[in-house]
Parts: sequence; C-alpha cells; structure tokens
Amino acid sequence: MRTDVTVVILAAGQGTRMRSRRAKVLHHAGGRALIEHAVDTALQVTAAENVFVVLGHQAVEVEAAVAARGVRFIQQAEQKGTAHALLCGEAVIPARTGHLVIFYGDCPLIRPETLRTLIDRQSQGAGGGTMITTLLDDPHGYGRVVRDAAGSVEAIVEQKAGTPEQLAVREINAGVYAFDAGLFWRYIHDIRPDNPAQEYYLTDIVGLLIAAGHPVGAVVAGDSAELLGINNRVELAGVDRIFRERKVRDLMLSGVTIEKPETVTIDAAVEIGIDTVIEPFAQILGATRIGENCRIGACSIVTDSELADHVIIGAFTIVATSSVGEHAHIGPYARLRLENEVAAGAHIGNFVELKKTKVGAGSKANHLAYLGDASIGEGVNIGAGAITCNYDGLRKHGTTIGNRAFIGSNSTLVAPLRIGDGAYVGAASIITETVPDDALAIGRARQENKEGWAARHRKRK
Ligand code: UD1
Ligand code: MG
Repeated sequence: MRTDVTVVILAAGQGTRMRSRRAKVLHHAGGRALIEHAVDTALQVTAAENVFVVLGHQAVEVEAAVAARGVRFIQQAEQKGTAHALLCGEAVIPARTGHLVIFYGDCPLIRPETLRTLIDRQSQGAGGGTMITTLLDDPHGYGRVVRDAAGSVEAIVEQKAGTPEQLAVREINAGVYAFDAGLFWRYIHDIRPDNPAQEYYLTDIVGLLIAAGHPVGAVVAGDSAELLGINNRVELAGVDRIFRERKVRDLMLSGVTIEKPETVTIDAAVEIGIDTVIEPFAQILGATRIGENCRIGACSIVTDSELADHVIIGAFTIVATSSVGEHAHIGPYARLRLENEVAAGAHIGNFVELKKTKVGAGSKANHLAYLGDASIGEGVNIGAGAITCNYDGLRKHGTTIGNRAFIGSNSTLVAPLRIGDGAYVGAASIITETVPDDALAIGRARQENKEGWAARHRKRK
C-alpha cells in the first residue's frame, strides 16, 4: 500500500439522466452501490484516511453507504463542475506532495491494477499528470483528447465546448487521473467557467499544466469496457452484466462448475469452493460462503449464508442469513427464511419453512412444515405438515424438541413448549404442554366408527 497517494472520488452530482429520486452513485451494479465499488477500488491502492469522497446530492445517504470503510468526506453543496468539486476539498485534503488520484463515482468497473499502472506511469515521468484514455467507436458525451502534431497531449475538450473537428476525435478522457499534488493545487485556481455550461471543468487543468511547461501523459487502455461510465439505466444494466461475467469467470477458473453461466447472478464477495456445481438461474448474493463439492439447484436464491462442504440445495430453494452443515440436503422448494442453523446431515425438504430455528445433526423435516423459533435436537423426525405455533398475536415463543424425538404428521406444537428426548407425538395432535422424555403424547379426539352409517345415508338420498 502506497503512502504517497491521495484519492478523491467525485460523487456529488444528481445523475439527471438516471431519471431517479435516488442519487446516481446509490444505484446498484454487481450487487453493490456504485459508490461502494469506487471506494473499494480506492482502498486497494491507499489507506482509508487518504481517500476522500465529494458529497453533494443526497450527501447523507451517500456518506452512509461507505462511512463504515473509514474514508473521509468533502461537501460540495452546490455542484458547479468537476473542478469546483476539488476546490471544495482544498482545505480538507492535506497532501501537497505525492500523487493526487482523481476519478468519478459513476465508473465502477475500474480495476485497482489500472490505478496502480496509472500511478506508476506518473511516478516514472516528471510531468504534471497522467490520465487514462481509450478509443471509442462512439465517443459522444465524453471529453476528447486533443494531441499535437508530435502526438503529445495538448488538452481535453468537452462535448459541449468542442469544435466539429475536435468532436471527431475517437480518443476519450476516461476521467481517471494521477496528478503531481503540488502542481495540481497551484493550477486548479486558474480554471474558469468559460464554456457553454458555465461549469468549472476539471479537464481544463490538463491544458493549463501543459501550457505552464508540465506535460501530461496518457495511458491508452486497450479494454475500454473497464472505463465505461454510467449515465442512464441502460448503461447501468450493461455494467451489471460485466460484473456478473467477471465473477463467474473468476469462479470457473478457480474450480467451480457453473451451468449456463450467463443466467446466474453471483455477487462479488461470494466465495465458493472447488467442485461445487451451480445450476442455471441460481442467485448467490451478499456475503455468502459455500464449501467444496456442493450443488446449488436451479433458480435457488442463497443470501448472506454459510454452506459447509457437500451440501445439496435443491431447485427453487431460498436460503437467507443461515448456516448449513456438511452433507445436509435442503429443498427442492424449501425456505430457510432467517437466521437458521441446520447441522450436518440434516434434511429439509419441499415446502418446509424455517425461521430462527436450529436443526440438529441428521434430523429430518422432509415435507410441508413450519418450524419457527425452535431448537431441534439430533436425529429428530418432523412429520409432514407439522407446525410450530410460535406467535400468540403479541409475542413469539420458543419450542424445544429433544434428541431422537418423533413428531407425527400434522402435529400442532403450541409454544412455549418442550418435547423431551426420545418422545413421540401422535399424528395430528395439538400439543400445548411439556412432553416428558420417552413419552407418547396424543392430543386429538378419539376416533369413533358408526357402523352402517354411510349406507343408511345413501339410502335416505
Ligand atoms: C466527465 C468528464 C469527461 C469524461 C467523462 C468520463 C469533466 C468536465 N468531464 O464527463 O471529460 O470523458 O467524465 O466519464 O470532468 N460531479 C461532482 N460535482 C460536480 C459535477 C460532477 O461531484 O459539480 C461528479 C458526478 O457526481 C459524477 C462525476 O463527477 O460522479 C462526473 O460527472 P458527470 O456529470 O457524469 O461528467 P461527464 O459528463 O460524464
Ligand atoms: Mg459521467
């Protein structure tokens, strides 16, 4: 990590072209807000105290999205342009030596390696700055890089200020710069809003530095995809797709099988062990960690959860904020709704819902059950249709089920309740009181047979 690098991320604008009530940098791509991507990239090249985010539109919300990362903030109450954003930070940003790296919060695909290459190039030359450029087939909207006869950078010209000849240039300014900090703060004051938009353009500093005898270099990026800015929701979807492709590619190269990779959605922070198979249309989100040799069924959604090795998640299963032990089977069509712990070898089958429930090793709830606020021991069998009544309309209550207990089908377990080790509950019972260890509890009306009743009934008709 370098100590001579300050990074400023510009994120004060509203993003009018998004047509949104939310600030542009709060929109998500690749599972995270755009501003989170930008800050996380910056944190790969310098320490948090050297990273500054310029806030303006929805400053409170944007700050909240990244405050936990320990970065610092600059307020730009009125947005008078990208150079004005930097001027607002002049008193807050301490460094007048070293490198000042600036990029925009709406370009989330930039890789840390690209910033490092930029900084290295700036360190090697003795110039005023270095910027990243790339060639686009359709450069409309971007600042164009104007070069002299010898091929050296002369200036950046913005779309609204360019001559037809300048606007024909296909080399664009990606908006990622490394400046000599001392020179930057000396010349930024000379920028004037003398353009049709009457904004203070940061890009004007390039021409000013060059005119003062401090050349500005350019790193021409071959992969322009990395430099795509987001200005509307079509571009947002395009960038999201690139994040997803990057992630599945990394996972496949690291030993994960992904069937029809173009259909799955896997967030950046997800970790998956080797030989795990991800079936089509699976979504694996948030801080999920999946072990080795697991299978994640088609159309399943796994969020913020931890799966050990050899876990099978059947198709159409939802697992959220839960942990699942080795060799457990979940689904198809199961829902682990919130904060569950399913131990090794347990089976949770179709149409079973768990909420804040612990299921011990080897226990089974294979069909049609609701288990909420329950603590279930090892080797327990929960019959089809068993239900914990955990809510009395005012408060939630817990159910404890001992090891090797057998809960008959369609039982209604009214909490608070304790069922002992090895106890049996007869099918369709309503259980409201403690069941001792090894007891059989039956709580239902005794069956009565009325001989010949059906035949007499039919005759009456
Ligand atoms: C900018 C560049 C352009 C470059 C392009 C790359 C300028 C003048 N132009 O144009 O050369 O090709 O990015 O994507 O810099 N912002 C503030 N305060 C302001 C204005 C903007 O913080 O007063 C922030 C915005 O929130 C945004 C970023 O700066 O994150 C860039 O602003 P935007 O309006 O998107 O600039 P572009 O038109 O894309
Ligand atoms: Mg932009």
